[in-house]
Order: sequence, then structure tokens, then C-alpha cells
Amino acid sequence: MTSSLASVSYIGATILFILSLGGLANPETARRGNAFGMIGMTLAVLATVFGPRVTSAGVGWIVGALVVGGGIGLFAAKKVQMTQMPELVALMHSLVGLAACLVGFASYVDTSTVFGTEAERAIHEVEIYVGILIGAVTFSGSLVAFGKLSGKIGGKPLLLPARHLLNLAGLLLVIWFGRQFLHAPDIQAGLTPLLIMTVIALLFGAHLVMAIGGADMPVVVSMLNSYSGWAAAATGFMLGNDLLIVIGALVGSSGAILSYIMCRAMNRNFLSVIAGGFGGGAPAAKASGTGAAEPAGEVTAIGATETAELLRDAKSVVIVPGYGMAVAQAQHVVFEITRLLRDQGVAVRFGIHPVAGRMPGHMNVLLAEAKVPYDIVLEMDEINEDLPRTDVIMVIGANDIVNPAAQDDPTSPIAGMPVLEVWKARTSIVMKRSMASGYAGVDNPLFYKDNNRMLFGDARKMLEEVLTALRA
Ligand code: TAP
Repeated sequence: MTSSLASVSYIGATILFILSLGGLANPETARRGNAFGMIGMTLAVLATVFGPRVTSAGVGWIVGALVVGGGIGLFAAKKVQMTQMPELVALMHSLVGLAACLVGFASYVDTSTVFGTEAERAIHEVEIYVGILIGAVTFSGSLVAFGKLSGKIGGKPLLLPARHLLNLAGLLLVIWFGRQFLHAPDIQAGLTPLLIMTVIALLFGAHLVMAIGGADMPVVVSMLNSYSGWAAAATGFMLGNDLLIVIGALVGSSGAILSYIMCRAMNRNFLSVIAGGFGGGAPAAKASGTGAAEPAGEVTAIGATETAELLRDAKSVVIVPGYGMAVAQAQHVVFEITRLLRDQGVAVRFGIHPVAGRMPGHMNVLLAEAKVPYDIVLEMDEINEDLPRTDVIMVIGANDIVNPAAQDDPTSPIAGMPVLEVWKARTSIVMKRSMASGYAGVDNPLFYKDNNRMLFGDARKMLEEVLTALRA
């Protein structure tokens, strides 16, 4: 492939990636966005592998690596459950960081590159240093995020004394070793400061994510997504690959925008996320999502038949789905109930919290899969003020996102996080299997309110019983 054809392909791929991001912004166009992304990536890979910078001997190696990597990716994507997606994404981010580090070290020890001037060499070394720095933070931070999301590491924030001072000391050391690195007389001498900086960056990345409390993990996941983009852009600079720089910048900036949106949705400070260590507050009652919180009163249980009666008698119903709906794979039966109620003249709508489930847009994806019409799926901000005028709210496998403690208890780890105010409806029905806490590990006072009913059981099984009762 000639270099001009490769450049044209790179421009084409860039346009396709921009169209892809645009498409992914809306559930209705998301499939098209994915298709643009896949075509763009195929074009980018082909233009790189068969481009002018890869020798014919190198093609074999690259194709071999593609087959191995692609095979592992295909296997992982087929095997992973929808509820494990965030863990997989965190693991993928760590690989981008690792790649940036490896490329950085390889470019540094590669003696074949000829530099025209000393300034060119210095610029290349700065690219290597910054690339490895971002890559190492992304690598260790994403690995810890993977551990936390998969429950292998506890959700409780690790708040070391003087943690901000530690971070500042790390930053100053990184700058000092950067100076040593740039003034190193030869590669051998430069490797020592480079390795020390890498260790500091790895510790910083791990510390950054360890300091984050359970319910705030979504913001960190999107922030690591952004870091992985900048790591890819840095790799692009090291390799002199324009497409990688552009794609990295697209991922980095869209991830940063998503983090900012998430911070606003969670009422968190963007800068404290970057510096690490928020979402602490009072210690969580139990480790993420597993243990039962201490009971704080009496709850009123309800059966499927009574639930069906309440729904049938209602004029307006709002359904609030959460992580449990994804676990139970209850979205299809939710759709059946919605259709039946709407046919009977009941106004049914959905209220979606920005961090419901375990990844951004998790609930929207599930509801779209079940063919729930988009126009009845509303964001939290759009529906919250209608909740006091709602007859019945059905909370399906959600917990933290409907917890009034976020508003009422300033010592709660989720204090300040905006929530769906379901307790303001005439009746709320919470569907879950037990009194266990949600991801943030805190008790939920909603369960004990007079107008709240608990429908205990697996969400899908209970909804099937409700559907049967509605049809009777
Ligand atoms: P959670 O607070 O995690 O609550 C989910 C509830 O679903 C649990 O209390 C669980 O109770 C119930 N459940 C689980 N399996 C069930 C089943 N088969 N049938 C019925 N119920 C079931 O979820 P949420 O309200 O959606 O809030 C999301 C939380 O995850 C937030 O804290 C958020 O910060 C965090 N998070 C979100 C993201 C993103 S980006 N969305 C990423 C990481 C973390 P039982 O065990 O009693 O059934």
C-alpha cells in the first residue's frame, strides 16, 4: 500500500470513529454507531498492517499477534455475562496502559531510530516518559478497578493518612526523575530513573482507585476510560502514528466528558476524582452487595397477586430498574407487563438513574434489547418531579439509586448523590431477594417506609407471577 493510500485510509477511519461516537450517544443510533466503529477499526488495522511502515517480514508477526489477541478477545466477549461487562472493560483498559508502557520501553532501548537534532531526541524522550507515566497509572488503576468491580477487592475506600501529600510527593518525584532521565548520558543510565518513575506511577494508579468508595466507582471507570485514551495517544506519539494519536485523543476526551457528566450526576467534584479519594464518608455497612445490612425497622411484605392488583388499579406507574434486573435478566417480562398495562390504559414510564446497574447506559441497553419504546424511558432529572403524582412505583432490583439516606443522612457514604425519590409516590414496591444492601453496602430506609412494600424473590420469577396474575 502506498503512503498516500494509507493516509487516505487513516482519514476515512478517523471520520468513521467520529461518526461512531456520535451514533453511540443515543440508544436509537447506537447500533449504527457500533457498525461505523467496526468498519473504521478494520480500515485502520488494514492500512497499518499493509501500510508503508511495516515490512513484509513484519506482517507475519502482526497477523499472528492479531489472531492470538483476537481469539482471546472473542472468547472473553462470548463468555462474559452482561453483568460482568464493567470488569471486562476495566481489564481492557489495563491492557491499553500496559501496551503504552511496553511500547515506551521498547522505543527507548531501540537504537535504530536516527534523530536529526538533539531537540528531536529530547522530544521523543519526553513522549516516552509521559507515555509510560500515563500507561502505568492506567494499568495499575484499571487492575484495582477490575478487582473492586468483580468483588475480589473490598469496596471500602482506603483512605491513607496524608494521602494528598503522598500524591503530591509522588508528583514531585516524577518530575525530578524526569529531569534525571532527560539528562542521562546514555540509555543504560536513563533506564534507572525511567524504571523508578514507572514504579511510582504504578503505586499512584493503585492508590488513586483504592481511595474510591463503592458507589463512586462509575466515575472512576469512566475516568480510567479517558486515561486509556490518553495512553493510546501517547503511544501514537512514540510510534509516530497519527491515527493512534487521533483515536487516543477521541477516546481520552470523550471519556473525560463522560466523567464530567457522571460527576455532575453524582454531585461529586471532578478534581477530587482526578486526585483520588472521595466517596469515603462513614464506613460502609457491609462489603459490596453481599451482606445484609442491619435491620432498621419493620418492613411490609407483599405478594405477586396484590402487586398485580395495585398495578391494575393505578393510573400512573413508574418502573425503576437497577442492577438486580440485569442479574435476573427480567427485562423481557418487564416489557410484557408494560405492554399489558398500557393496553389497559395505565400510563407506564421508566425512571433511569445515571449509575443504575454496573456501567453507563446499562439499563437503557437492557430495555432497548427488550424493545421497550424509547419515549417512555426517562432520565432521573426528567421524571423525579413527577414521582409525587405517581400511583405506583415498581423498583426492580435497585437499591442505592433509590436510597433516601443520600438526601437525609449527611454521614452516609452516598450522601449528596442524587437519587430517584420513589418514596414520594403513593405506593412504592421494591422487588429484591432479601434485605441485603446494594453496591455501596449501606442500609436503605426506603424499605421501612409506611407506603413501601417489599416483594421478595428473584425479580424475573416474581414478575412472571405478577404477569400471570395480571392476565388472570
Ligand atoms: P445496587 O445498589 O447494587 O442494588 C441492586 C439490588 O439488586 C441489590 O440490593 C440486590 O438485592 C438486588 N438483586 C440482585 N440480584 C437480584 C435478583 N436476581 N432479583 C432481584 N433483585 C436482585 O444497584 P443499583 O440500585 O442499580 O445501583 C447501582 C450501584 O452500582 C450504585 O451504587 C453505583 O454507584 C454502582 N456502580 C454503578 C456503575 C455504573 S457505571 N452504572 C459502575 C460501578 C458501580 P438482593 O441481593 O436482596 O436481591
